[in-house]
Amino acid sequence: MFSTNPFSILAEIVSPLAMQGFIIAMVVLIAGGTIIQMISHRNLTYFFNNAKKAKLSATKELGMGEKVSIVAKTTVYDIGTTSELGFGKRRLAHVLGMYGTILFWVASAALIFFYTGTGKSSSTTWSIIWHVGAALTCLGGYWFWFFLRVDVSAEAHPWYRIIKADLFVLALLACATFGLLWSYTQFNGQVGLSYLFLILFVVANLVLFGGIYWSKFAHMFYKPGAAIQKNLAEADGSRDNLPPPAEAPEQFGLGIKREEPKHY
Ligand code: HEM
Repeated sequence: MFSTNPFSILAEIVSPLAMQGFIIAMVVLIAGGTIIQMISHRNLTYFFNNAKKAKLSATKELGMGEKVSIVAKTTVYDIGTTSELGFGKRRLAHVLGMYGTILFWVASAALIFFYTGTGKSSSTTWSIIWHVGAALTCLGGYWFWFFLRVDVSAEAHPWYRIIKADLFVLALLACATFGLLWSYTQFNGQVGLSYLFLILFVVANLVLFGGIYWSKFAHMFYKPGAAIQKNLAEADGSRDNLPPPAEAPEQFGLGIKREEPKHY
């Protein structure tokens, strides 16, 4: 199953052009949903106003080389490893889900555009990447959903309590799960079930990409921007208008060690 391209078998009943059109439509939904969200939440205006204000309190003018180096370091470390989540399970689960999703999406596009349709060759590598990507998304996502979500781990709500903020993670998990189930049932010749999971896979994608305006999807664009701005502000001395660090070392006494901090 892992080395089979499920889209290639699907091409017997759905035109590869329609599949390519679906991917393009999803990209349009990402751009549209994110732009409309930025306009209506005015987060970009806030971000730029804040950056402009912070620039006034800068103590150092950064050269182009310094800026490029800060952006590169932020991209590799802060963004590439989601360092904001500290060291621990939360970060590991996020990194698994994030890279899993990226692999899943890139492999979907590669399989559909280059390896699906009559006369096209097959690619075991991309098929494996597609399945592994979906599996990693499930691993990181379900770990987060059942054990790490703040509502569950800190607020003691049951895992099955669903609120609007869960739209993103649930739609993402539905895409990866139904994608895998569709591939599995198709591979095993379970025709009825494979159609059912295919329909659920398509619906999950429509919800994920069509629901960007209402979901946390766009954090994958906002967070990198904020990380770059934060590191530039630290380097030019403006510190986002925050007070300078205290001169004395931070001493919190032993009390802070009594319980793991999780009341946020
Ligand atoms: C393909 C890219 C990404 C995917 C698929 C992804 C996926 C997710 C998911 C499913 C959640 C849980 C959402 C929820 O609270 O319901 C999440 C949360 C989060 N993401 Fe991402 N993310 C991506 C990129 C990024 C990037 C680039 C950053 C930072 C630079 C980032 C930082 C965060 C943070 C700080 C949280 C909150 C985590 C928590 O509450 O434990 N994400 N992400």
